[in-house]
Amino acid sequence: MTTKALAPHSVDGSLDIYKRAQHLIPGITQLLSRRPSRAALGFSPIYAERAKGCRIWDVDGNEYVDWMSAVGPIILGYADDVVDAAVKEQIDRGSVYSIVHETSVELAEELVRLIPSAEMVRYAKGGGEACTVAVRIARGVSGRDRVLFCGYHGWHDWYLAANLGGEKLGGHLLPGIEPIGVPACLEGTVMPFEYGDLNMLEDLLKQNEGEVACIIMEPMRTELPPEGYLEGVRELASRHEVVLIFDEVSSGFRIALGGVQEFTGVTPDLSVFAKAISNGYPMAAVVGKREFMEPASRMFISSAYWDDNVGIAAALATLKELQRRDAVSHFERLGGEFKARINKVAGDVGVQAECVGVAAHPGIRFQVDDPADAGKVATLFIQENARRGLILSTGFFFNCAHDEAALAKTEEVVGESFAVIAEGLAQGRLDELLECEIQEDLFRRLVR
Ligand SMILES: Cc1ncc(COP(=O)(O)O)c(C=O)c1O
Repeated sequence: MTTKALAPHSVDGSLDIYKRAQHLIPGITQLLSRRPSRAALGFSPIYAERAKGCRIWDVDGNEYVDWMSAVGPIILGYADDVVDAAVKEQIDRGSVYSIVHETSVELAEELVRLIPSAEMVRYAKGGGEACTVAVRIARGVSGRDRVLFCGYHGWHDWYLAANLGGEKLGGHLLPGIEPIGVPACLEGTVMPFEYGDLNMLEDLLKQNEGEVACIIMEPMRTELPPEGYLEGVRELASRHEVVLIFDEVSSGFRIALGGVQEFTGVTPDLSVFAKAISNGYPMAAVVGKREFMEPASRMFISSAYWDDNVGIAAALATLKELQRRDAVSHFERLGGEFKARINKVAGDVGVQAECVGVAAHPGIRFQVDDPADAGKVATLFIQENARRGLILSTGFFFNCAHDEAALAKTEEVVGESFAVIAEGLAQGRLDELLECEIQEDLFRRLVR
């Protein structure tokens, strides 16, 4: 089954800029997930010209329906009129001052109203640094050093120290990360635990009794937590008098406005929100119960741009718009429809692919008989989607601008991409069909 003739697709303009960047910017992009080598190099766009709603135009003039939503931050849509008007108004009043602005208090009031664990609030600009603030507060409050974690929490020393003395981050971040530049003296200060395994967490707490400052975890990704799991973590944290931190940098605002903690009814002591909080303007918040947050006023946690009012104005406008547009219902409907259509075309084409997980944040899984084919299939999917005007890989984030037109185009394109994959698998022609390098074990190459 071969697909219809394709219009020519070129990203030559992107590739020219990429060549310039190779001499100037180590790693090319600042976020790993945006690296061109993580996509289909030669087919995926690298440099954007502009974006609006759920669409991106690249420097070559190609238009794409984008499902990545900037890897999470875009929740209302690119260049959202309401948020951008609030930002422009703030810019006209000044972005950051020698003093502060009332909007910082208004945003705190809104976060406290929306998020179950929030009684007090601190701000930052990125998710990783906000996690670092939360861990600092937990260490400061408890007077203990050790950290138990589950999930991805940024690039900082406290977290990457997990890989000192042996690979521990493989299942949480990526395999093969060498903790280059992380002080060796941090070895043993941070330990991972398996999601869903309460016995393992309990064992770690017992083995490190009296030494653990906090448990920090992503409470959920695409799958619902096992029955009673988060309640069990909460109970263990309380029993061992350990601060419980939910990292809601990626889970926040899509499944429920108050995060996974609102959705599941399990309330942590501290939580971290970033990314979607401000629809594309740098902003993050650490929120938590008064007894844990108040002592932070005596800790040295301070940065000039954390009082910047552009991110604060954007966050305030974003949170109000999410409520006004009933975004949570939109994601539920959109996700249900997206899953149904992807699964229908997979069935029609006869490819072993399934869209799984909660409607607000599902993922696509391919099943291949030979594990060596997994990377090829995933890259072929990105390649075939990109050349047809779709930015879609197996992981993605919804936004409020994703509409019926985006869904219809996606259904058509994914059907064609699945057909190419099915053909490659059935005829053993994956290598021939793949016209770019496989997305691969990136870190190992980078750290050399
Ligand atoms: C759960 C989680 N924590 C922390 C981070 C780091 O956030 P940032 O990239 O804004 O530093 C991310 C980013 O993807 C994340 O998903």
